This record gives sequence, C-alpha cells and structure tokens, in this order.
Amino acid sequence: MLIAGNWKMFRGPDPAAFAGLDAVICPPFTRLRDCVDAGLATYAQNVHWEPEGAYTGEISAPMLLELGVVGSLVGHSERRQYFGETDETVAKRTRAALDAGLRVIACVGETQEEREAGETADVLRRQLSVLEPHPDLVLAYEPVWAIGTGLSATPDMAQEAHAFMKSLLDAPVLYGGSVKPDSAGPLLAQPDVDGALVGGASLDVDSFTTICQTAAAIRS
Ligand code: PGA
Repeated sequence: MLIAGNWKMFRGPDPAAFAGLDAVICPPFTRLRDCVDAGLATYAQNVHWEPEGAYTGEISAPMLLELGVVGSLVGHSERRQYFGETDETVAKRTRAALDAGLRVIACVGETQEEREAGETADVLRRQLSVLEPHPDLVLAYEPVWAIGTGLSATPDMAQEAHAFMKSLLDAPVLYGGSVKPDSAGPLLAQPDVDGALVGGASLDVDSFTTICQTAAAIRS
C-alpha cells in the first residue's frame, strides 16, 4: 500500500509534521530539499528524459537523485491538459527516470467526456500501451473528472478500472481523485486498489495522517 501526497503548486505544511508516516511526498521543486531533509521519501512532480542538456525549465533524473529525491510522478493529467504532455513524452520520461534509478508513479485516466462516451477502456489502453512493467513502476488511476472536484470515483468504479489496468500491465495501481479521510477507507479496501495519490487532502497534516492510518489498518 503506497500513499503519495501531491502538493501541486502549493508550499505545503512543514514537512517535519509528516515524519514517521509510511508515505511519500511529491512537493513542488522548491520544497524538494525541505522534504528530503525532513527524512521523507520524496518524489518530484515531473522529470525530464535527458540526463542533461539545453532544456530550460526542466529538471533531469540525475539532478533529482543528487538532491536525495527517490522518485517522480509522470504524466499527471494536469501536465497532459495544460503543458502538452503526450503518451510519447510520458513514456520517455518514465523510461529515463526508471533507467536512472528513480521510482515512478505514472498517471493515467479518462476525462468526463470520454467516460460518458464509453471510451474509458480505450483511453486507459492507449495511455498504458507506451509503458512497460518495471519493479519500480507504479501506476495511478486518476479519472480527470475526479481530480480536485470533490467527485471521487466510487469504490466499484475504481476497482473495475484498476483490475482492467492490471490485466494490461503488471504493476500496482494507486487511486487518485478527491481522496479524503472519509472516502479513503472504502476505496483502499478494494482488492486492486494498492494505495492512493492524494492532492488536496495531503496539504492538511491531520487529514493526510488519517488516510495513511486507514491504509495501514486495511493491509495489516
Ligand atoms: P485531489 O488531487 O486529491 O485534490 O483530487 C489528486 C491529484 O491530482 O493527484
């Protein structure tokens, strides 16, 4: 069971407040060092595929490793939606990060329109088709319509999507999209939900702690 806190473009609370939690934190680049220094398993929110070069504004896997960062998110829907991330660039980032020794949480998920059009399976198949199994690769199923909206997928919807994803690619699958302390239990109790990627609720120490404790209780 893996619980990942995605702080997005927020400063986030004091990383020291999360000490002792069995979780990873994905802060903005400017807080990476704080989280590493607080002894947290720290992931970046993105990583470039080249180890070095003229790519202004990008951060490479070796640069992250040098900081003590141990992993990265890749392909978050906000990267796909606002920053031109494609299945191909997701594949390049994922491969390079894994090769360099970072762990990766690769995010996939359908939009509201795609779900309503009955295209969820096609979208997941397409997004996963560019990825290969790897011991350090974890997937996150994040339906775009559930991210930051308060509209979480139901436990049955998550279970169905996760089982389908695992039939395509052998990797643990986290659920992400409006996970809150009260919705976490039923979601994490599903057999193919292997953890959670938590945005808003990870910014509050108490709510994130409750989610981590819920996860620990379910799999203990
Ligand atoms: P949310 O964000 O929990 O605020 O919906 C999830 C994510 O984007 O990782």
